[in-house]
Amino acid sequence: MARKLRKTVVLVGMMGAGKTAVGTQLARLLGAPFLDSDEEIEKAANMKVAEIFARDGEPFFRARESEVLLRLLGGRPCVLSTGGGAYLSPANRAAISEQGLAVWLRADLDLLWQRVRHKTTRPLLRTANPRATLAELLAGREPAYSKADLIVDARPEYTVEAMARQVLAA
Ligand code: S3P
Repeated sequence: MARKLRKTVVLVGMMGAGKTAVGTQLARLLGAPFLDSDEEIEKAANMKVAEIFARDGEPFFRARESEVLLRLLGGRPCVLSTGGGAYLSPANRAAISEQGLAVWLRADLDLLWQRVRHKTTRPLLRTANPRATLAELLAGREPAYSKADLIVDARPEYTVEAMARQVLAA
């Protein structure tokens, strides 16, 4: 049964954690709109995330990300999937905790790597050793992600539907 969403549910966590897939399913279960911050940034800039990184740099991307986040948090409650770096900024975290509910989709390095290794869309992983880069990002970001209101574990054996139901139950 669809429940009335009072606050925006903000999915945070690393690339490859399943935020977009789980968020889409969760929104369906809740009968709520689904939005994705990367997609909104791309629409506003009329460029892909990777192009924004390449042309304008990461700080520029982060500024657009914060703007989009604030705009979406101020709108109608929805399920919002964020890019992996969005929850690192204290200002973004403060806005999310005021106006939404942060859910960290926690996944270990092996699962994340399995999911992102064949994708070429993530500018931060365009390094000589992307697995090591992913490991460094994960280690550096976990303290920030752990500030989320809820933590839901992603495992290889969990389906998207099961994950979405876990978020709902939590
Ligand atoms: C990023 C993750 C990406 C995207 C950008 C930066 C990050 O989103 O926002 O490439 O800093 O982890 P996903 O987490 O949806 O892949």
